[in-house]
Amino acid sequence: MDYLKAQFAQSLRGSINISGAKNASLPLIAMTILAKNKVNIKNLPAVADIKTLLKLLTNLGANVAFEEDKVVVDTIPLHETKATYDIVKTMRASILVLGPILARFGHCEVSLPGGCAIGQRPIDLHLKALEQMGAKIDIKAGYIQASAPSGLQGTNINFDKITVTGTANIVMAASLAYGETIITNAAREPEVVQLCEVLSESGVEIEGIGTAILRVVGTAGKLLDIVDFRVIPDRIEAGTYLCAGAITKSEITLTDVEPKHLVAVISKLEEMGSSFTLSENEMTIHPGEQIFPVKIVTQEYPAFPTDMQAQFLALATQADGVSIIEERLFENRFMHVSELQRMGAEIMLNGHTATVTGKSKLSGTDVMATDLRASSALVLAALVADGETNIHRIYHLDRGYDSLEKKLEGVGAKIERLRE
Ligand code: UD1
Repeated sequence: MDYLKAQFAQSLRGSINISGAKNASLPLIAMTILAKNKVNIKNLPAVADIKTLLKLLTNLGANVAFEEDKVVVDTIPLHETKATYDIVKTMRASILVLGPILARFGHCEVSLPGGCAIGQRPIDLHLKALEQMGAKIDIKAGYIQASAPSGLQGTNINFDKITVTGTANIVMAASLAYGETIITNAAREPEVVQLCEVLSESGVEIEGIGTAILRVVGTAGKLLDIVDFRVIPDRIEAGTYLCAGAITKSEITLTDVEPKHLVAVISKLEEMGSSFTLSENEMTIHPGEQIFPVKIVTQEYPAFPTDMQAQFLALATQADGVSIIEERLFENRFMHVSELQRMGAEIMLNGHTATVTGKSKLSGTDVMATDLRASSALVLAALVADGETNIHRIYHLDRGYDSLEKKLEGVGAKIERLRE
């Protein structure tokens, strides 16, 4: 198994190119199931989750070709409609194929994803919405069995809770449904917005893109001619490298980034003492001399993202004073706390709230990554810890960060990938 060895970084300098967004790529790949043409996708990140979803599509009969600067997905020959446990267990987002397969074939089976490190993460809202669209859903032997032999019907769907993949699943299902679907309390994340935009450019009538109310007019079962597209930059990867700049007090420039997707993150970093130079696709962080403590509450976009909570927690260990970080989306998303404590961080956990007292002197040791974003928080802590930190179980990190150690090495960090 691979692990990362990272050392104290005096200071970093230079620029990092941001990859395509994993969380935008996943629904966009699932969307290709709705196509009657081969779909050309640019800027897919080289991360394990993307390979997993492409493998799932290949298992179902699709062809995937990696060309120079794009991936071509051909779902015309796709004929299997069952997403089996072996794949779904490695990636919960496999649930994204449910809506499109059901809409195209009238039936679909997807293994139940089960629990995960950051909490229960149910999919009841996806299923309820599909039932409202006329699907019959049974749960048998660990599988969701969904059928809608006469196609899905447009209807009014109100999500009790904002769900990102839930919204994506229903938008895709609604695109091929009969009639009009109105989704209220829809997710407004940039990744959902890009999915809606690509569908809209491909001929699906969608109103309200980027708002909490989406109106989708289905094609009554007709497959789509999906346009070529380029995946938006990964705002969470970008935010992680901004935290690397802030924690090591280094000026770092990010290229191929979308600053307007990072407003909440930038605003918290400003409160913590950093300033920024922004242009359309580039940004530079200018860290202050001192890191100030902060109060953070994770919420749905455009508020502060839960996917940046762990990294800010690591950063807060180096602030002068007491920071309070409240996690509102996932009940168990503080697994990185005990590992940071082992490095010397002073953190008190009380239910959904972490109180971080800085500034702590961190020391390098062996630590274990517990989930995707927790892994990058440990890397950030390692950059300011005395001595060497070995971060184990980085298969979590590889799920969502494209070449993290190479990108950090490129700005001067001492970090290498080794094998146990
Ligand atoms: C997506 C992101 C993930 C991010 C999360 C929240 C992808 C592939 N993943 O995950 O990185 O951390 O959004 O921004 O895009 N819920 C239910 N029932 C459901 C669905 C969700 O109760 O049927 C709850 C969840 O337990 C959670 C909240 O709703 O408390 C939000 O979850 P959701 O937005 O669905 O997260 P994901 O789409 O799985």
